[in-house]
Amino acid sequence: MQFLPPFLFVFILFNIANSSVAFRNININADRRGRSENVNNSDVASAIITVDQNGSGKFKTIQAAIDSIPSGNHDWIKIKISRGIYTEKVTIPPDKSYIFLQGLGREKTIVTFFDHERTDTSATFSSSPDNVVAKGISFKALAARIYGDKSAFIECGFIGFQDTLWDATGRHYFSNCYFEGAIDFIFGFAQSYYENSLINVTVGTRPPTEIAVGFITAQGRASANDPGGFVFEGGSVSGSGRVLLGRAYGAYSRVIFHGTDLGQVVAPQGWDAWSYKGQESTLTYAEIECKGAGLNISERVAWEKKPGDIQQILQEYSRSSFIDQDGWIDKLPR
Ligand SMILES: *[C@@H]1O[C@H](CO)[C@@H](O)[C@H](O)[C@H]1NC(C)=O
Ligand SMILES: *[C@@H]1O[C@H](CO)[C@@H](O)[C@H](O)[C@H]1NC(C)=O
Ligand SMILES: *[C@@H]1O[C@H](CO)[C@@H](O)[C@H](O)[C@H]1NC(C)=O
Ligand SMILES: *[C@@H]1O[C@H](CO)[C@@H](O)[C@H](O)[C@H]1NC(C)=O
Repeated sequence: MQFLPPFLFVFILFNIANSSVAFRNININADRRGRSENVNNSDVASAIITVDQNGSGKFKTIQAAIDSIPSGNHDWIKIKISRGIYTEKVTIPPDKSYIFLQGLGREKTIVTFFDHERTDTSATFSSSPDNVVAKGISFKALAARIYGDKSAFIECGFIGFQDTLWDATGRHYFSNCYFEGAIDFIFGFAQSYYENSLINVTVGTRPPTEIAVGFITAQGRASANDPGGFVFEGGSVSGSGRVLLGRAYGAYSRVIFHGTDLGQVVAPQGWDAWSYKGQESTLTYAEIECKGAGLNISERVAWEKKPGDIQQILQEYSRSSFIDQDGWIDKLPR
């Protein structure tokens, strides 16, 4: 049993009483067992915690704000983060769901951390629980690793060179986000929908400058039953050097680009089977209704999927059927 520390309880009450910002029509209880599925929370103001490096917020670091939230939290709490470069490692532990991190825009609120440890311990931002939203924030270096289900990133930036975003597990929604990197910079096992992404390739701009070609994705789907996969809807790929759309990080790796503007940075072969050469038939890589100077389908690897029935593919990989079967995205606070 977790108890709310008295100061936090008073703080939350204070904010509910004083806040002019109410989350509209969110269904905060819809995912909790044993509770009503259709609670109308349009009249429920959520708690808001402010973070400002200058000391005019409740906390000076994002982590201190997260630490102040009680374990087992089940109502959306918004953490508003002022402009600034926050040099800290930010971790949302598994027992703290329903956290909404809101910055002032990806060029104004930046979280960075310089860490040269192994990939699995060194991400600037790590999020484990279900139901987490970040909006208007950039994460730099080994930028982020996302483990929880139902996690959304709106207008965020993920900036690094190699292994920038570890899109680890769960269903994730990225809307209007910016991705910068060179090698496997969006990688992992998650089931993710990337809508209107701006993908900026930086191959050759910094050491190791000798790499001939970079890789945008390294998707790790391991079996035919694995729900994982990355779907890119709209958006664009541009930048410098040469890049492949993806290389197989699992035997059933799955990456779809639909309606994406592919700049000439995309190398003609398009994809790499990596350690699954000879087993390409289980890889699902496809480009559907894409455009741009990097769209050189005649030079693509022969085993790229050639979508026969576009309508069926679009249905299967639409946002609602791929990651939003239960409608969680529309229930998120704004
Ligand atoms: C939720 O409450 C709002 C405001 O009172 C109302 O307009 C809306 O119809 C309600 N929705 C449901 C599903 O009850
Ligand atoms: C913090 O202080 C600096 C220097 O006074 C100022 O430029 C900046 O705008 C302040 N940040 C916020 C979020 O008020
Ligand atoms: C891409 O990244 C490079 C290197 O950081 C930067 O100079 C350039 O402005 C970026 N391009 C876009 C479109 O953001
Ligand atoms: C496609 O790739 C080939 C080989 O690199 C190249 O010669 C050709 O010009 C490319 N076509 C387009 C339309 O870019």
